[in-house]
Amino acid sequence: SNPLGTTMDRETLETLVSFVNEKRMHLVCDEIFSGTVFDKPSYVSVSEVIEDEPYCDRDLIHIAYSLSKNLGVPGFRLGVIYSYNDAVVSCARKMSSFGLVSSQTQHLLASMLGDEEFTTSFLATSRTGCAARRVFTDGLKRVGIHCLDGNAGLFCWMDLRPLLKEATVEAELRLWRVINDVKLNISRGRFFHCSEPGWFRVCFANM
Ligand SMILES: Cc1ncc(COP(=O)(O)O)c(C=O)c1O
Repeated sequence: SNPLGTTMDRETLETLVSFVNEKRMHLVCDEIFSGTVFDKPSYVSVSEVIEDEPYCDRDLIHIAYSLSKNLGVPGFRLGVIYSYNDAVVSCARKMSSFGLVSSQTQHLLASMLGDEEFTTSFLATSRTGCAARRVFTDGLKRVGIHCLDGNAGLFCWMDLRPLLKEATVEAELRLWRVINDVKLNISRGRFFHCSEPGWFRVCFANM
């Protein structure tokens, strides 16, 4: 998930699948960070969960994915909707003409993704890169700053609560201004609707 850098475990996904079935709601799983998992627990896709849930109405399950994170190509605007529901697939196919991907981009990506040797080594390298967040979090730990234990993603969730003068959104904003003044670009927990002031997201992908 963004901003926590953690993945959902199988049990939570099972609970969600059974909840949406009971309430007849649709479940859209954003699996954009699936290829960034660098530590245990390993990634569990909702597609694996529903294999073991024969009662599940698959028409309610949809998966969204994009190459933006794994390949670092957000500018290519290339994503995937994987749905078990024919009506959704048919609608998505029609809608896709409003966001066409250029033939040059398609050709480039098809060559890259069709090269199994490249994709295997690329994913391994990219996981090693994500795991390098430890260098950063260990450095923070040495100066007394802790981060949430994460297993995926391109960022970490940093706990600066001890640095707040008081546990308020205003104090979080004041601290963020100080950090911003020294040209460090981090995002306030408030932007992610965090209920506790003092948490910040640090993106290490471009460090
Ligand atoms: C969880 C999540 N889903 C989807 C996106 C959208 O990615 P894009 O529009 O580049 O495919 C982002 C981008 O930050 C994200 O963090």
